This record gives sequence, C-alpha cells and structure tokens, in this order.
Amino acid sequence: MSTATLELQGLNFNLSEEHLAVQEAARDFAQNELLPGIVERDNEARFPTEQVKRMGELGFLGMMVSPDYGGGGMDTVSYVLAMEEISKVDASCSVIMSVNNSLVCWGLEAYGSEAQKQKYLTKLASGEMIGAFCLSEPEAGSDATSQQTTAEDKGDYYLLNGTKNWITNGNSSGVALVIAQTDREKKHRGINCLIVEKGLTGFTVGKKEDKMGIRASDTHSLLFTDVQVPKENRIGEDGFGFKFAMSTLNGGRIGIAAQALGIAAGAYELSLKYAQERKAFGKQIFDHQAIQFKLAEMATRIEAARLLVYKAARLKDEHKDYVQAAAMAKLYASDVAMWATTEAVQIHGGYGYVKEFHVERLMRDAKITQIYEGTSEIQKLVIARELIR
Ligand code: CAA
Repeated sequence: MSTATLELQGLNFNLSEEHLAVQEAARDFAQNELLPGIVERDNEARFPTEQVKRMGELGFLGMMVSPDYGGGGMDTVSYVLAMEEISKVDASCSVIMSVNNSLVCWGLEAYGSEAQKQKYLTKLASGEMIGAFCLSEPEAGSDATSQQTTAEDKGDYYLLNGTKNWITNGNSSGVALVIAQTDREKKHRGINCLIVEKGLTGFTVGKKEDKMGIRASDTHSLLFTDVQVPKENRIGEDGFGFKFAMSTLNGGRIGIAAQALGIAAGAYELSLKYAQERKAFGKQIFDHQAIQFKLAEMATRIEAARLLVYKAARLKDEHKDYVQAAAMAKLYASDVAMWATTEAVQIHGGYGYVKEFHVERLMRDAKITQIYEGTSEIQKLVIARELIR
C-alpha cells in the first residue's frame, strides 16, 4: 500500500465514476473546509453553523433523497463514501449529516405521506433546515419499547408529553421525529412517530450535554409539555411508530458504521504520515518493526471494516435484506475505530496526547460509535436474532 489512502485496492467493487466523484468532493470539502478551526470547535463545543450550511449547499444533507424532493438521488454507496471522507476529519459534522440523511430524510421518504414530503422533506434534503430523531429517553435507551413519552389521541391532534434524551441536532433542528406511546395496552404496536415542528407551544429544548467526543454537534434533551401535534403529522398508520424507528435505524447503522470507518481511516492516515516524518533512534519510526506492525494491523482491520460497510450499503441499494449486514458493519467498524484511534495516539506518543495532532480527538470521537444508534451489545443481539430467523 503505497499511499496514505486506502481504497479497497485490487477488488472490483464497481465504484462508478460518479461514486469516485462524490468521494473526491467529500474529501476536498473535509480537508479544505472542515479541517480549519476543528480544534477550536471541539474545544468550545461550538456548533459548526457555517460548515453545516456548506454541507447543504454541496448536497451532503439529502444525498439519497429523490430529486423530486430536492435531494441528490444518490445510492447508499455514495452516501457511505461521503460519510467516510467527512468522518476522517470531522465526526461532529458527520453525525449531523448522518442523522439528517439516514434517520430523518430516509424515514420520511420511505414512510411519509406526499404532503409530509412536500412540506418537510424538501427543506431537509436541501439543508434549509435539519432534523432530529427522538427515540431515546431517560429510561429508554437500548430498551426502546419502554417509551414513557405519550401521544394521546385527541381526535384532530395528538397531545404530546415527555422527555427525549441525547438528541443529536437537538437545538439546531427545525423539526423532530418523535416516537411516543399512544396506546400502552398495545405495547410496541401502540407507538407512533410524529413530526414535531420547533416553535409549537410546549416544545422546549433542554440541557445541552457536555460530551467526551463529537463535541461540536449539539446533543440536547427535548421537552414536550402538552404539545398539540396535528394528526396529519403522524408517519404511517396508527401504531407504526416502533416499526418506523427500527426500520430507520437499520439504515442509520450503515451511516454510523461509515462514520466509524472514517474515524479509523483518518487516524491511520495521520499515523502513517507521522511515522514517516518522526525520527527516533536514528531512523524514521516507520522503520521500527513495532510501528510497522501497528500500521499493518490498522490497515488490515480498516480494510475489513470497509468491506463490511460497503457490503451493507450495496445490499440496501439492491433492495436485499441488510439488517444483519448493517449491524455487523457497525459492530465491527466501531470496534476498529476505538482500537485504531488508540493505536494512533500510541504511535504519536506525547504528540498524540495533545490536541493539535488530532488523533486524541479522533479517539474521543470513536467511542460514541460503539454506543449510539444501538450499542455494540444491541448489534450482537440483532445479528444473533438474524442467525436463526
Ligand atoms: N428491523 C425491523 N423491525 C424490527 C427490528 C429491526 N431491526 N427489530 C425489531 N423489529 C420489530 C419486530 O419485528 C417487532 O415487530 P412485530 O411485533 O410487529 O413483529 C417489534 O419491532 C418489536 O421487536 P422485539 O420484540 O424484538 O423488541 P425488543 O424489545 O425485544 O428489542 C431491540 C428490540 C432490537 C432491542 C430494539 O429495542 C433496539 O434496536 N434497541 C436499540 C435502540 C437504538 O438503536 N437506539 C438508538 C437511539 S437513536 C440515536 O442514537 C440517534 C442519534 O441521535 C445518533
């Protein structure tokens, strides 16, 4: 492997000219527009307003949405290629992108009504506004069916009450997809997903989380007190909300797997470059076998993660079952991200422990990929269930 960029070399993965163009555009954008100021945004936990605006202008916020609704009409492979490149540099921006693309836009396009798509999807796909996906609650993370938020059926509207936790884009979003229990007796089949606009009376943004990583993305609790949500804002049939959430998360996990892959690849590329610049004991540290072994293993595991991520994306594009493939990709890529970034810090030594060399941020950013959109333990559950299905 002669260059710093790993590309599934030697394998015909049928990446088209368009795929390669998307990859290059995302790489250029990340290097030229995301890298400057990234340490400061991370330090200050400052939302990347300008960068998100640019992601919208460049078409990164509604990549898979049909052009009929203002999207890029691209496939999932294009999306993971872009996610990977952007995540190599800025995982805060890539989670904002991932939630908007896979959880909000994809869910709305797949299951929303025509009126909902016209009203919301067009704005979300262009980046005119961004969306949030609200499933987690103080007492319902992995155990997602235990929803305490209620959406009481009042005829023309639902009366929404409850609290959602750890919501990506919590403050910056214009609209939130909120999962809530309507009929408790029906358990998960009595759950609905409502499109809830910011500005509705009783909808407030709560505490901002002070996070270990992805610090520039805004993660908040959202509070709903007697919020009246019009009936036409329910996605799908009555009781479809949990299926909506699960189905949307299946695809979301491909996005997070691509994010983890990008974080790992970013750390690897920085380490390879550093190993060829830094000298110790009279030679480049790359010439020490201890460092060569680390880089060789990083390259190998990253390539394996890449194959799983591309496979899951390809299956989704071919309308084949991708539930297990997505879970495997996320499980493996997130572990590779955590491991590879830790190795990257080690290769950089003392420099790795300070912020300007970037790898410590990548290490902090990597951890969340083992947690959100289903923890690694949940991915194992999903994979195991599929083994005997
Ligand atoms: N795809 C489609 N449908 C699914 C599904 C999947 N992967 N998993 C479950 N379902 C369906 C089942 O078929 C079942 O439907 P029916 O009864 O109609 O057949 C229904 O959902 C309930 O399934 P289970 O009985 O299996 O439910 P469970 O309570 O035993 O467990 C779970 C389900 C897999 C553990 C699920 O709760 C889960 O995935 N939990 C993790 C939640 C999660 O990923 N949260 C992330 C929050 S979002 C986030 O992080 C976004 C962000 O901001 C970055």
